[in-house]
Amino acid sequence: MSVDVLLGLQWGDEGKGKIVDHLANKYDIIARFQGGPNAGHTLIIDGVKTVLHTVPSGIMHERPVNVIGNGVVIDPVTLKKEIENLTSKDADIKRRLFISKKAHFILPTHKILDAASEAAKGQSKIGSTLRGISPAYMDKTGRNALRVGDVLDKNFKLEYEKIKERHLKLLSIYDFEFSLTDLEKEWFDAIEFVKSLNLIDSEYYLNKALAEGKNILAEGAQGSMLDIDFGTYPFVTSSNTIASGACQGLGIPPSKKIKEVIGISKAYCTRVGSGPFPTELNGATGERIRKSGNEFGATTGRPRRTGWIDLPALKYAVMLNGVTQLVITKADVLNDFEAIEACTEYDINGKQSTEIPFDLCKEEIKPVYQKFSGWKTDLRNFTSYDELPEFFLNYISFLEQYLSTKISMISTGPEREKLLFKKTLETAL
Ligand code: GDP
Ligand code: IMO
Ligand code: MG
Repeated sequence: MSVDVLLGLQWGDEGKGKIVDHLANKYDIIARFQGGPNAGHTLIIDGVKTVLHTVPSGIMHERPVNVIGNGVVIDPVTLKKEIENLTSKDADIKRRLFISKKAHFILPTHKILDAASEAAKGQSKIGSTLRGISPAYMDKTGRNALRVGDVLDKNFKLEYEKIKERHLKLLSIYDFEFSLTDLEKEWFDAIEFVKSLNLIDSEYYLNKALAEGKNILAEGAQGSMLDIDFGTYPFVTSSNTIASGACQGLGIPPSKKIKEVIGISKAYCTRVGSGPFPTELNGATGERIRKSGNEFGATTGRPRRTGWIDLPALKYAVMLNGVTQLVITKADVLNDFEAIEACTEYDINGKQSTEIPFDLCKEEIKPVYQKFSGWKTDLRNFTSYDELPEFFLNYISFLEQYLSTKISMISTGPEREKLLFKKTLETAL
């Protein structure tokens, strides 16, 4: 039938995992299309927290099948741990999980190269998650990599050794100490585990499913402002995180298959790692948001930088993705705030603009804010969208107008069930 794409519109951690988990039963297939274990998608079900890095966020449901697409980079060690943790709770999980033979592997030396490169950059480091993402994608585009389907090839070990040798030469330019022995042993153990999984030609699998009338939810990782082409380069990740990445990362033709593009944004903004963040709040208000929103990385545990919502950046992301409906998460984090601010324009050298300049890193940006009265009500207690407090709905309709896009869902807490739907839009899914 068709594909809906769900993705983050900011710098990641918008709450994608929670929303995918909530919607998953409406779909036959949930498919991750890019990124790798740099992602950390949190699900809270019956009070139990699960953080997924590579496995799609539909895995906790019986109905949908979960596919790790060709656009994903896989660290077999992380994947093995993740699946073992999941199977300890539900032995049936391996049956519902399929992995593209065309997905690329992250090797132990990719992780070391990531760490060595970041260490060499010193103050100007990207703040990578150190999961080997950039070196793995570099080898993919450099046409030097190992893919999941290669595990079935008798020359797999030989090909691995060739790549390793090349990586060791690269590492010799850095003054960086490392030890490979344990990492390699763990990696090859995990490769044996990968052989026991459902390895598929995912582009055929997904296109056949569509031809049979099935529907797919494509799950993005990271966020649009971390996109390799359109994010705050060079402080970005190494994949296309925007909606078009779903076609590339799953082998789905764009011509007629994509229906809804569901863009997720927090009611404020966060970023983890280095790079420009025009609305960042370094003082007490930023700290208050971090505390109230428990803003610490799901993958690395690093404190997330916090700030007010950045509407020029969000409008840019809505444009790039062709967002058809928005989801606002973590609105409850601002429950107690007397006033809420939203950046509506950038002031760059006295000139005001609602567009993102070519290089955010090189501009001195003064955000121009519009202020709203806080709702001072606990949103977690509401069970219907239309009954939400007036001051909150004022803020929501301002966002809808600014972004020229309807907000179809409001997330009011981390738990699976804390999601309110605008009734008129629910049927669009
Ligand atoms: P993802 O990477 O986009 O899936 O997001 P993360 O899981 O990295 O970070 C989102 C965090 O916010 C997680 O700890 C979620 O449990 C939590 N969360 C998600 N939605 C909400 C919400 O509406 N309110 C609150 N308070 N927390 C939320
Ligand atoms: P989810 O899917 C937030 C950030 C890193 C760093 C930059 C590059 O959970 O939203 P990388 O390891 O990709 O080379 O790091 O991107 N980053 C994320 N930030 N959420 C993520 O994923 C991220 N994945 C990468 O912090 O700034
Ligand atoms: Mg995350």
